[in-house]
Amino acid sequence: MPIPPTLEPTMEKRWSHVFLFTIFFFPQFLVQSHASPEYTRQPPRPLIFSTNTRSDSAPQQVHISLAGKDHMRVSWISSDKHMPSTVDYGKISGRYEASATGHDTSYTYFFYSSNKIRHVTIGPLDPSTTYYYRCGGSSPEFSFRTPPSTLPIEFVVVGDLGQTEWTASTLAHVAAEDYDVFLLPGDLSYADTQQPLWDSFGRLVEPYASIRPWMVTEGNHEIETFPIVYPHGFRAYNARWLMPYQESGSNSNLYYSFDVAGTHIVMLGSYTDFDASSDQYKWLKADLAKVDRIKTPWILVLLHAPWYNTNSAHKGEGESMRKAMEEMLYKAQVDVVFAGHVHAYERFTRVYDNKADPCGPVYVTIGDGGNREGLALDFENPSPSISLYREPSFGHGRLRIYNNTHARWSWHRNNESDSFQADEVWFERLSSSNTCKGTVQGQIHSNSIDEL
Ligand SMILES: *[C@@H]1O[C@H](CO)[C@@H](O)[C@H](O)[C@H]1NC(C)=O
Ligand SMILES: *[C@@H]1O[C@H](CO)[C@@H](O)[C@H](O)[C@H]1NC(C)=O
Ligand SMILES: [Fe+2]
Repeated sequence: MPIPPTLEPTMEKRWSHVFLFTIFFFPQFLVQSHASPEYTRQPPRPLIFSTNTRSDSAPQQVHISLAGKDHMRVSWISSDKHMPSTVDYGKISGRYEASATGHDTSYTYFFYSSNKIRHVTIGPLDPSTTYYYRCGGSSPEFSFRTPPSTLPIEFVVVGDLGQTEWTASTLAHVAAEDYDVFLLPGDLSYADTQQPLWDSFGRLVEPYASIRPWMVTEGNHEIETFPIVYPHGFRAYNARWLMPYQESGSNSNLYYSFDVAGTHIVMLGSYTDFDASSDQYKWLKADLAKVDRIKTPWILVLLHAPWYNTNSAHKGEGESMRKAMEEMLYKAQVDVVFAGHVHAYERFTRVYDNKADPCGPVYVTIGDGGNREGLALDFENPSPSISLYREPSFGHGRLRIYNNTHARWSWHRNNESDSFQADEVWFERLSSSNTCKGTVQGQIHSNSIDEL
């Protein structure tokens, strides 16, 4: 149950000071009961409240997301009501050959009214190309690089990010090595109904989210329902983090899919209906049936509440969704399923219906981005045989897909100022495996296997 915000109507700026003092309810001295001998586990770290350092009316909280073939959506917020919803862009700094216009939206949450949130889709854009852009005709200039059109491609995967000093350290480690697209399986700001924390989060992530596309799906911390007043929730999330759901034939920002360089990525919603009669279920079925395994040989799925989890935290919470949808993913030969929610890292073998299965997806829990709640230290013992690596530490993951058959997954633990690669494994694409040919649904073209 969310806490009713005891907020008075006032401007966001005055809030920052109040929040600095009221938000510090972190358990600062958690006892580290499961620390492995080689690494001392760290307690949660304090919130970073990011204030606006630009002029009041300048664009802030800029982030970008993939929006249909060769297009990028640019999103930002400004207190200037009259700023146009336009993005000027081009391949040379300061010279904007093209311009596009989008739309604005805003929302209220009790006494909080957001500034105008603007979304502009630009393109067509060339692959693997740096573009310079500005929002609403105003400085500062930003730049991003588009993803490649073909493999290889590198994804960074971080769940349960939050906005603490650990978040900052995870993002610094992410940025220290190149990659193409950022994937977030839910739990972004941990605003938990305190809306100015959504603005603070937007400012904290802007240096990263304005230079590479951030593709997110929702976690429980995005829900923010309030009985009677806001029964449907997701007001801030849907307004601020618009994802390409319309571009992928979905009716809801809570689930969608997109293609990028040989990979079809499905973002599912753990906190909306998923049973066989639901819109999400029907959409997923149609979406998976359309996948062209020649164009996108790899399929990844992201969702928040893990279907497989040997940590005592959130045990069983993904079970009804697993029962509803696991068979669909299995038949579509999904390669990897990433989840968040549990604040730890865990990697499973290929699994189907609770058993190791060479034709099932690999399951990975990566809910260790750095949120204020701290780590989930309690794994069940002994470790079930399907769980291959588990560790409660903050960190991030990287999936580098090299070609039609091989991808490398690595997990990087936050080790003070450095990050340390603690887990690494190679994945072979499932639909290229001879063993699994027979289990494939009709949509897998047989020549996509023969061609390799
Ligand atoms: C795919 O990439 C892996 C890793 O770099 C390499 O070992 C393999 O030979 C490549 N396969 C093809 C068909 O290029
Ligand atoms: C942490 O970093 C230190 C210094 O870079 C390194 O010596 C150590 O091996 C790392 N340990 C772990 C477990 O990450
Ligand atoms: Fe969560």
